[in-house]
Amino acid sequence: MTHGTPPSASSEFTLELGDADLTDRIAHGMGRVEDVLYERLSEGEDFITDKVTHLMKAGGKRFRPLVALLCSEFGPEPGAENVVKGAAITEMVHLATLYHDDVMDEAAKRRGVDSANHRWGNTVAILAGDILFAHASRLMSEINTDTVRHFADTFAKLVTGQMRETVGARGGDPVEHYLKVIEEKTGVLIGSAAYLGARLSGAEDEVVRRCEEIGGAIGMVFQIVDDIIDIFSTSTESGKVPGTDLREGVFTLPVLYALREDSPAGEELRGLLTGPLTRDEDVSRALELIAATDGRERALDDVHRYLAVAEQQLDQLPDIPANRALRQLSRYTVERVG
Ligand code: IPE
Ligand code: IPE
Ligand code: MG
Ligand code: MG
Repeated sequence: MTHGTPPSASSEFTLELGDADLTDRIAHGMGRVEDVLYERLSEGEDFITDKVTHLMKAGGKRFRPLVALLCSEFGPEPGAENVVKGAAITEMVHLATLYHDDVMDEAAKRRGVDSANHRWGNTVAILAGDILFAHASRLMSEINTDTVRHFADTFAKLVTGQMRETVGARGGDPVEHYLKVIEEKTGVLIGSAAYLGARLSGAEDEVVRRCEEIGGAIGMVFQIVDDIIDIFSTSTESGKVPGTDLREGVFTLPVLYALREDSPAGEELRGLLTGPLTRDEDVSRALELIAATDGRERALDDVHRYLAVAEQQLDQLPDIPANRALRQLSRYTVERVG
């Protein structure tokens, strides 16, 4: 039975992969990932499954499974059962971090719907995130111990990144701190998706290593772009509330560059951003001031630097349709900022 709609067919995320056979294979693979997600997350008591499937059913781009499936094309068994399971694991872990992240960020909206914490409270949201880790761990154990070990490292880095963000730069360079945080909290999981896709399809070690690096670089692009969107777009576009990071006192890359600027806007911003912003008019004013600086452009320069890292690695991999699709995917990730 097929439950899911592959992202390439959804209105939220349309990607032309540039090759009809590849598009078919990926769409089929994404459908199988959806089936695994629905089946696994529907296991257990009703009072838990409605919360656990809440965000999965709300949509999302399924970006990590897509990266996993594309990288599996570099190995001899792109459609293997374990590739699909690996791809589903990355989405489950991602979902778990979203439940927990929205508690930490006190976010009210996610994927265009109420966040779990907003609807059911923090306790339920934390437990729903935990059960997602349980489902993901069970799937890993069905593959092999290398996958379990790999994800143990991935979890550890994810948590370290969220913790590093929470404790702040502590006197260090804020931009370096930011880049380290996003590498850990976002780059690593997208790198893992690429790693698992290639590894579980039987690709050679060197190819697996390059895929992991490509995923990590795309992850950096992805998060910087997401942080730009948090500041510069409306909630209809992003499915989240704009300025959420600012309200929480989390200063992302465009803000850090704006704060450094020697200009009247930079000056006023430094006065305003001495801590978390609580009043709506302060958030609006801060957003206006950031837009008046070159924070966005400077953040986009970094985006292009990571894009180049991904492309250099892709240059070293076979020129198959998935290679071109990954290039397109990285560029698409940037185009989200418009
Ligand atoms: C949101 O990830 C969290 C970040 C790492 C920026 P996505 O933008 O992939 O969220 P969904 O899965 O599409 O909802
Ligand atoms: C996303 O961090 C990273 C994880 C979920 C691990 P953010 O807090 O920046 O993501 P959004 O903006 O809530 O999606
Ligand atoms: Mg958040
Ligand atoms: Mg966060």
